[in-house]
Amino acid sequence: MTPKAPTPNRLAIVSAMTEELQGLLARLERDRTVTRAGREFHLGRLGGCEVVLVLSRIGKVAAATTATVLLAEFAVDRLIFTGVAGGLGPEVSVGDIVIAQQLLQHDMDASPLFPRYEVPLYETARFDTDTALSQAVHAAASSVVSSPGELLERLAAFGLGAPRLHQGLVLSGDRFVCDSAECGVLRTAFPDALAVEMEGAAVAQVCRDFGVPFAVVRTISDRADDSAHVDFSRFIAEVASHCTVDIIGALMVPRISKA
Ligand code: ADE
Repeated sequence: MTPKAPTPNRLAIVSAMTEELQGLLARLERDRTVTRAGREFHLGRLGGCEVVLVLSRIGKVAAATTATVLLAEFAVDRLIFTGVAGGLGPEVSVGDIVIAQQLLQHDMDASPLFPRYEVPLYETARFDTDTALSQAVHAAASSVVSSPGELLERLAAFGLGAPRLHQGLVLSGDRFVCDSAECGVLRTAFPDALAVEMEGAAVAQVCRDFGVPFAVVRTISDRADDSAHVDFSRFIAEVASHCTVDIIGALMVPRISKA
């Protein structure tokens, strides 16, 4: 009898920008780094859990390429995309955490062949994240929000208060939204959208194709308006990357050391 292939039990954690991933990379108990399609896939353990960490680069195509290589070559059975996003929902402030329940490409338009925003041949514009994985991420983020520790000081350095947690629709598109008028158009088209970023919906589509559960968790870095570029890199390095470490740490037992 042919032996059964081992069940993969490896979590992929993906971010678009170096600053977003640096906190996790610094804590990785690294086994090896493999280069594929110009990306470095870092394999090892975080808090005792088998992981592969990779920088996708920015935008939907870069994210889709990265997710495809991950799922085809690295035997991952779950994927979490983490990083920052622009806040769209009226209650969503800079420093808050958003967990996607659905993702949509706001720049997809194959009309009149297909309804605007619908991804051709998928019969939907909205891609659901995995409920169980997203709930686990939500529970982890919830514990961070309820006792934010030093994150509170980091937020205070930017004049921000305690973070809140939101769950719902996240938009993705190949555009950094930093214009109040464009932001208004998105809010009118998608009144239930919480945030906008540049990768999540592409990863959602690839994970759907491969049947792999995925979740998206984002720290809000800006309000996607005319001031969206202010202090962006500094905010990611000094707040968002720490937020990611705290959430992923809370997701894993034992916790990732904060030292
Ligand atoms: N990621 C973080 N902020 C963003 C914005 N305003 N637009 C698109 N992606 C983002």
